[in-house]
Amino acid sequence: MNATSNRLRVGKYELGKTLGEGTFAKVKIAKNVETGENVAIKVLDKDKILKHKMVEQIKREISTMKLVKHPYIVQLLEVMASKTRIYIVLEYVNGGELFDKIVHQTRLKEDEARKYFQQLIDAVDYCHSRNVYHRDLKPENLLVDANGNLKISDFGLSALPQQCRADGLLHTTCGTPNYVAPEVINDKGYHGATADLWSCGVILYVLMAGYLPFDESNLMTLYRKIHKAEFTCPSWFSPGARRLIMKILNPNPKTRITAAQMYKNEWFRKGYTPPKFDEEVRINLDDVDAVFSESTEYMVTEERDSKPAPMNAFELISLSRGLNLSGLFETRGQQARPEKETRFTSTKPAKQIISTIEEAAKPLGFNVQKRDYKMKLQGDKHGRKGHLSVATEVFEVAPSLFMVELRKKGGDTLEYHNFYRSLFKGLEDIVWRSEADGKTSPLETRSGKSSPVK
Ligand code: ADE
Repeated sequence: MNATSNRLRVGKYELGKTLGEGTFAKVKIAKNVETGENVAIKVLDKDKILKHKMVEQIKREISTMKLVKHPYIVQLLEVMASKTRIYIVLEYVNGGELFDKIVHQTRLKEDEARKYFQQLIDAVDYCHSRNVYHRDLKPENLLVDANGNLKISDFGLSALPQQCRADGLLHTTCGTPNYVAPEVINDKGYHGATADLWSCGVILYVLMAGYLPFDESNLMTLYRKIHKAEFTCPSWFSPGARRLIMKILNPNPKTRITAAQMYKNEWFRKGYTPPKFDEEVRINLDDVDAVFSESTEYMVTEERDSKPAPMNAFELISLSRGLNLSGLFETRGQQARPEKETRFTSTKPAKQIISTIEEAAKPLGFNVQKRDYKMKLQGDKHGRKGHLSVATEVFEVAPSLFMVELRKKGGDTLEYHNFYRSLFKGLEDIVWRSEADGKTSPLETRSGKSSPVK
């Protein structure tokens, strides 16, 4: 009976399971209840962001994501905020990580690797043309959509030119070491574009080889090998692929191949078709400031569980004697003997059921604690075995049929019987009666004994 659906609803989105987790954010799958469409929602804790003085970085990340609209980049759909959290709503990509393909297939065939690499360069070059640099390109940030096309995710570490120093170079060392360009490790300043292309070269190598070009457990040895670009290509790489990788994994960023040169490269060009999309981006950054404002004007409501827990046929049958469900819905002329657990059915709306129980319990001296479609009723008098405590829950059997369960949690059983009878007088309006019998109420206990209302 624990089929409680306790999902969080944020605005028009119902949040589901977690897809990924980082230090500052969780990514969850969610459903737009108006359209039925899936989205991915990045959930950020406002307190954590303020504590780590990351407000500006988050604002920049959101603004950056708004700047980029490209078929091979995860699309930002909207930004919402509550008092305590920020919700970044993203396009949901359902093909998993590109990296999973390497894990399952060991490595990709050259033509397949080239297709993903072409899409990667298309997306990265598009971002660079808008002065957006990813800086953390690695297979885990590369997703695949239902059509088998690439989608780059997570611009969490991307930097706009504001982060440039006077020399016009970026100065933050970040990213996974295996994919990071030598000049980034050096921290003598680097150009985001050439550094991103190095990472693309490492990704191409991994897709075709099934392992990393630079992989050492000792960090110093790893850095040394990256600095010297000390790697070898496996025998199955074609001469064209080998030549291109050598040009990308060039430790000197000044002579490293550029995106423009890449588009002219013979190996790269094979089967290449540029993506078609609307290049014009209209952006409105009003909501970016609004997410950190104290004003409640733009705030979204967070609601937990807007529906009673559903009860399926198996759960329903488990409550009856064998497969005979009749006792659950119709009972005539038996003695009122509620055991520790009592159930009745109602066709009234779940909210009305809850408020009727609440109103009936209060005059009987019960303290009522409500949460969604569950209620705890606590007697105010100390009885024979302490305070009488009763738990109730409403379950949805069918769209307009609910089952209400009353369960004694503490106190004396006889006192519970008396309470139950008194309570029931106040519930007559909501208890379901069959047409054949205007008076009886459907009740049954787990022990199989059925009880009418009076
Ligand atoms: N994991 C991280 N971001 C995602 C997205 N947009 N879609 C699916 N899975 C994800």
